[in-house]
Amino acid sequence: MKASVFVGTSVDGYIARSDGALDFLPPDGGEPHGYDEFMASVDALIVGRHTYETVLAFDAWPYGDKPVFVLSTKALRPPPAGAVVERMMGSPEEIVATLARRGFQHAYVDGGVTIQSFLRAKLIQRLTITRVPVIIGVGIPLFGPTTRDVMLKHIRTQQYPSGLVKSEYEVLA
Ligand SMILES: NC(=O)c1ccc[n+]([C@@H]2O[C@H](COP(=O)([O-])OP(=O)(O)OC[C@H]3O[C@@H](n4cnc5c(N)ncnc54)[C@H](OP(=O)(O)O)[C@@H]3O)[C@@H](O)[C@H]2O)c1
Repeated sequence: MKASVFVGTSVDGYIARSDGALDFLPPDGGEPHGYDEFMASVDALIVGRHTYETVLAFDAWPYGDKPVFVLSTKALRPPPAGAVVERMMGSPEEIVATLARRGFQHAYVDGGVTIQSFLRAKLIQRLTITRVPVIIGVGIPLFGPTTRDVMLKHIRTQQYPSGLVKSEYEVLA
């Protein structure tokens, strides 16, 4: 099973403020920059519990009826009607093996801690990072300490009129 990341960050690399707020990201993604096409390419989501709780507070559940696997060691707050949510725990290797066994082909991995642990386990093949034109100084980082260099191949970078800059990378090793 392939796994990809599609995330928005401040120019200084934060995915949320320290309290989880996303107010520095433009509402609804700002302008079309490939999110819908990316979502159409995945058949499952793997999200950390913090990300799940953020999304639960949105006005509308953004994942439709796509299966969402929420990683947590605790019981989850109930999902809204129509959402397909399952809690999972274990190593990234175990989670990917379980989803692959169940026939999933392409997972969207989301949440800072979660992305970092899947990257460490070499289980992310594609990273798409959209920088929004703001520096927020402090917050929840997309990346953190690593025990080794993660080599990337730059695929493309696109700029958008509102100032979004989207870069896609293949994770090499
Ligand atoms: N800018 C963006 O595009 C973007 C995208 C996604 C998220 N965000 C924001 O980023 C913030 C969340 O990121 P985050 O780094 O705090 O956390 P996160 O990755 O969403 O969640 C971390 C939690 O997930 C659970 N978890 C992770 N791996 C696990 C595993 N292998 N097994 C069991 N449980 C596991 C643990 O929950 P338990 O403590 O329950 O065990 C852990 O505390 C939110 O504010 C969210 O809105 C922004």
